[in-house]
Amino acid sequence: MYSAAVITVSDKGSAGLREDTAGPAVEEILKAAGYEIVYTSIIPDEAEIIKDELIKTADEMQIALVVTTGGTGFSKRDVTPEATIAVCEKLTPGIPEAMRAESMKVTNRAILSRMAAGIRGETLIVNLPGSPKAAKENLLTVVPSLEHGLDILR
Ligand code: MTE
Repeated sequence: MYSAAVITVSDKGSAGLREDTAGPAVEEILKAAGYEIVYTSIIPDEAEIIKDELIKTADEMQIALVVTTGGTGFSKRDVTPEATIAVCEKLTPGIPEAMRAESMKVTNRAILSRMAAGIRGETLIVNLPGSPKAAKENLLTVVPSLEHGLDILR
């Protein structure tokens, strides 16, 4: 069983101004797919904080799969993909490509998510959009393929 972390990136969520439902929805899908959730957090849309959180969960905690939700759109505060790309040694573009392609069947706005994914050490980091609906739809598209990637990575 692989370990997983779910990091919610949201100014409002981290300030307690909005209930985080995307994070728990992502956790449920990962648990159902056989992952053990060992870490969750809610952090603001700040690149340095996002990077620190990704480095901590990858390097210190050695978590196999780190999933973020939020901060992938066009608003000025959305910096999750940039923070992710900054800490990854390799990008894994097939993951966001598949998510955007499948999401286009649901909404034309799927192209507006700039979500990225990549590898740091033996950790796979995957961004998801922020709305619970979008986070679920995107994760369900790729979750069946991720375990094989982790097998090769470790
Ligand atoms: N993908 C799916 N599957 N379903 C959705 O409803 N919403 C889109 C997109 N991807 C959506 C989706 C919208 S409207 C936006 S703005 C982007 O994700 C970015 O979302 P974020 O800014 O919350 O990260």
